[in-house]
Amino acid sequence: MCGIVGYIGHREAYPILIKGLHRLEYRGYDSAGCALLGKELTIYKAKGKVSDLEAVYEKSPQPAGEEPTVGIAHTRWATHGAPSERNAHPHLSESGSLTLVHNGIIENYASLREQLQKRGFTFKSDTDTEVLVQLIEYQKQLHQSDLAEAVRSALKLAIGAYAIAVIDKSEPEKLVCARKSSPLAIGIGEDDSEFFIASDASPIAEYTKKIVYLNDEEVAVVVRGKELYVTNLMGDETEADVKEVNVDLSMLDHDGYPHFMLKEIFDQPNVLKDCMRGRIVGDDHNLKVVLSAVTQNRRQLLRARRIVIVSCGTSWHAGLIGKQLIEHFCRIPVEVAYASEFRYSDPVIEPDDVVIAISQSGETADTLAAIQQAKQQGALIYGIVNGVGSSIARESHAGTYIHVGPEIGVASTKAFTGQVVVLTMLSLALGMAKGTVEQEEYEETIKELLLIPEKIEEVLKQNDKIERLSKQFTYARNFLYLGRGYNYPVALEGALKLKEISYIHAEGYPAAEMKHGPIALIDNEMPVVFLTNHHRRYQKVISNLQEVISRHGNILAIINKGDEQVKKMVDSYIEVPETLSCLTPLISVIPLQLLSYHIAVSRGLNVDQPRNLAKSVTVE
Ligand code: AGP
Ligand code: GLU
Repeated sequence: MCGIVGYIGHREAYPILIKGLHRLEYRGYDSAGCALLGKELTIYKAKGKVSDLEAVYEKSPQPAGEEPTVGIAHTRWATHGAPSERNAHPHLSESGSLTLVHNGIIENYASLREQLQKRGFTFKSDTDTEVLVQLIEYQKQLHQSDLAEAVRSALKLAIGAYAIAVIDKSEPEKLVCARKSSPLAIGIGEDDSEFFIASDASPIAEYTKKIVYLNDEEVAVVVRGKELYVTNLMGDETEADVKEVNVDLSMLDHDGYPHFMLKEIFDQPNVLKDCMRGRIVGDDHNLKVVLSAVTQNRRQLLRARRIVIVSCGTSWHAGLIGKQLIEHFCRIPVEVAYASEFRYSDPVIEPDDVVIAISQSGETADTLAAIQQAKQQGALIYGIVNGVGSSIARESHAGTYIHVGPEIGVASTKAFTGQVVVLTMLSLALGMAKGTVEQEEYEETIKELLLIPEKIEEVLKQNDKIERLSKQFTYARNFLYLGRGYNYPVALEGALKLKEISYIHAEGYPAAEMKHGPIALIDNEMPVVFLTNHHRRYQKVISNLQEVISRHGNILAIINKGDEQVKKMVDSYIEVPETLSCLTPLISVIPLQLLSYHIAVSRGLNVDQPRNLAKSVTVE
């Protein structure tokens, strides 16, 4: 979590840093800070949002005409030490010459801190980060070395995860940065004379397309007007892999919507078309799914006797849907694991296993570590990722980008439907290659998948109705979400959406499992969102619905259009267009996204930046 920005060049650094922090604010927003190196080194810090930092800067801005052209900045998601001005980055070294921003966790910070304290270093914050800047200064003094060498020596002693950017008053033409497990990108600007540093490409994209993603344990030195020099921790030069990265800048703005989350919900019909573009080919009589990763890794994929999906949060819910899709179309057993549990569970991985990692950001530390472990054990790693060039994408042997554009709202929406579309295409392509799917079902599913964007459009037209319905739930304290089969993971996802942005306790449950416990919770004050738009087990779902009605639960049902039977039974309903059973999640999740959005707005909450959360969880 947390966002880092850095700049060195010929332009005024502060506006570039602030704009970059705004772009990265989805990564953390409990405090922010920046350091500007001109004639003096000045540090500004604020508890709260980037806008609070701007207010602090406005009170004592840099003198006009002398605005620094070097600086680093940070928006924090606290791991060690409470969110406060004192703990906000950048942190200063003992002499006040060095200053550093950090994303990650230094696991051995306590022992390093103790050793440094014995040598006379004093600490002003409760963070793990502060030991890094002190350690770099100590190494610099000890070996009489330059900043880059001191950074390398210090990082050899640090255990944990880091992306850092450091500047030093005594070497004002340089900015040094490094990474291990946390992401860091370097943009090479105009005439190769200015450099931009950031946690992802979004703050860099408007200045340059030339981007280098640092690899683990690489240290980069950028010298103003001169060069970018990358080494490993031993100081041996490594080749900087310059990529051309295209970010659609319009995706980085609200575009007239009050929140990113709402914009991203409404983006879904279009971005899902992007996700399918070039992958579903042929005409009406000869439709095919072509995924290059499946074609290129056909032999290994066909050999798979088991597939393990690793992911977290919403991506884990997409994984549960993926399991049903792959088992149905490919007849390969699938396990779905929380990445955070998988990595420490001493997993049994055979060389013929395929491990699928699902991640919007492509930077989730738990998922990254899980695939690194599975890779060591010989599995083929298949990434389903949105973040182009992200760590998980680069760590995977094969993969399919979901291509839904940057997702900024902390609550994942379009990434979820994009993941489910990719999982559907993957299951169909692999099922066809294996001969486990009938031609007729294959074609019918592809045709129906192509119709999903316009069916989502139809659901979105009910936004006003959903907003009205949501008002009755503003003060609810608990919620149950129930669904079966393909709709069970959607129930989990609906509950997660509500929890994370409206802070209402919610549980998702398989509708038939409810009678084994949670049914005890139901009374006339318990809102129950019931997903009945599932034709394969329709009658069974209706029986489960009756069980809740008999206990006077307040039911909001998601129903297939024209389902008069359920309409008469429930308190309120949202009609959605019918689709194939296996594609139901792509439709039924849309009203749940809108419902949680409107409940959170009616409670006056910050939908895009919910408390305690961050978009990209790059710490364990
Ligand atoms: C979703 O709304 C969440 N904010 C969260 O659960 C998220 O899905 C999870 O952290 C995984 O992130 P990833 O997809 O970027 O790996
Ligand atoms: N561990 C550091 C802190 O708590 C950095 C946290 C982060 O990566 O967001 O300040």
